[in-house]
Amino acid sequence: IPRIAILISGTGTNMEALLKASITGELPAQVSFVGSDRLEAKGLSTAAALGAQTRVFFYKRDGRAAAEEAIASAVEETHSDWIVLAGFMRVLSPEFVRRFKGRIINIHPALLPAFPGAHGILDAWNAGVPETGVTVHIVDEEVDHGPILAQEKVRRTADDTLETLEAKIHAVEHQLYKRTLKEFLEKHPVDIDQWKGEEDGKDGN
Ligand code: GAR
Repeated sequence: IPRIAILISGTGTNMEALLKASITGELPAQVSFVGSDRLEAKGLSTAAALGAQTRVFFYKRDGRAAAEEAIASAVEETHSDWIVLAGFMRVLSPEFVRRFKGRIINIHPALLPAFPGAHGILDAWNAGVPETGVTVHIVDEEVDHGPILAQEKVRRTADDTLETLEAKIHAVEHQLYKRTLKEFLEKHPVDIDQWKGEEDGKDGN
C-alpha cells in the first residue's frame, strides 16, 4: 500500500479528507505523517486526533534549506512514496522538487494556469470570472505548475458571495483530491518490495 506524506500550513481540511479516506480504505494509501511549516496549524491537531504521526518543519528558525532537508529526511525515514501538498503555502525549492521528481502532488483552488499563487479563490473572485475551479497536479519547479491530473469547474452564480464560492470550491477539493489520488496511485503502483529487509515502519503512527 503506498505511503503518502501530507504537508499542510493551516486548517487542513483537505488533509483531513485524505486522512479519513485512508483510514476507511476509500483511499488505498497509508498516511505516513502529516507535516507543517507552522506549529500552530490547526490541521496538526486534527491529524493527531485521527492518529496520524505529525511533524513540524521550522522554516523561520532554520531557513528554507534546512527545513527542506528535514522534510526530505522525514520522507525518507518514513519510507513515504509520495508527498501530497494540501494547503502547504511554502514554495519548494527546485532542488527539493528535483530530488522528489514526479512524486509531489498539489491541489490548487483555481483552474490552472489561471490564478496561481496563494490567493487562487480571491483572485478569481476579483477578476469576476464566471467560473473557476480546482486543479490537482504534479509539482514541477514552477509555482502551482506541472502536469495536470484533474480539474473540476465551479460556477460562480449571481447569488454567490466570496464565502459561498469558497465553500463550493472547498467541497469540490475534498472530493476531487481523494478521487484523483486514488486513480493516480492505482496507475502508479510503488514497488512493494522496495523496503524489504528494513525495519517495519508500516504503521506510521
Ligand atoms: C486549499 O484551498 C488549497 O487548495 C489551497 O489552500 C487551501 C488549504 O485549505 N492551496 C493553495 O492555494 C496552493 N497554492 P485546507 O488547509 O483547509 O486544506
